[in-house]
Amino acid sequence: MPNAKDTPAAPRHVAIIMDGNGRWAQSRGKPRLYGHHAGAKRVREVVEACPDLGVKYLTIFAFSTENWKRTQAEVSGLMKLFRRYLTKEAQSLFKNGVRVRFIGDRIKLDDTLVRMMDELELLTADNTKVHLTIALNYGGRDEVARATKRLAREVAQGHIDPETVDAETLARFLDTYVLPDPDLVIRTSGEARISNFLLWQSAYAEYEFVDTLWPDFTADEFGRVVHSFAGRKRRFGAVPG
Ligand code: FPP
Repeated sequence: MPNAKDTPAAPRHVAIIMDGNGRWAQSRGKPRLYGHHAGAKRVREVVEACPDLGVKYLTIFAFSTENWKRTQAEVSGLMKLFRRYLTKEAQSLFKNGVRVRFIGDRIKLDDTLVRMMDELELLTADNTKVHLTIALNYGGRDEVARATKRLAREVAQGHIDPETVDAETLARFLDTYVLPDPDLVIRTSGEARISNFLLWQSAYAEYEFVDTLWPDFTADEFGRVVHSFAGRKRRFGAVPG
């Protein structure tokens, strides 16, 4: 696989909708959770591939605000998997220089999981090699609504003049305020939808929809998709000069 470390056109921030775990499991006659477990293994592989590909920020969609509508067994199995993942991977993420952050509304998540999330954020706070953001109970509309609520409070308290509010003001209240916008959004499993993921932040992102189901998405394929980004011309709404 060619090395894109020195390629200026490598996407700095890649976001991934990891879709297809359920179908992957069902095609093997297994329960859906089996697919989520297989999917969790791919997360490590893809995170580890980032430095050599020149990807500095990786954001992954682990659980959406809509995913609570799944069966209770699947939801609790996923929550257990997240707790297990955080316990199991904490040391290797730390040692590999990965800074972990979480986005999404923590209010509905169980206390143990939230404590683990806080601890991992703290443990890895000084790391700078790769910035991994895990979206957990995340929805783009929900995020904008929560940001608006916080902004409205600041306005009500007289700290912000409503006449000065613009897109940058609102962006400061988003969960992602410290992150650059994604350059490339990948969705696996052949579905061409964004499903409420980073709606605001992806305004100028490039999209790549691949047919591979997430548990089959290897570091090699990730590398190919990242390299294909380098050939794209981005205009950000301007006319090419
Ligand atoms: C979508 O596949 C996947 C999810 C809702 C969960 C994503 C979770 C993982 C990849 C597990 C591990 C993640 C971490 C951070 C440890 P789907 O269930 O919608 O698949 P389907 O469309 O085939 O039904």
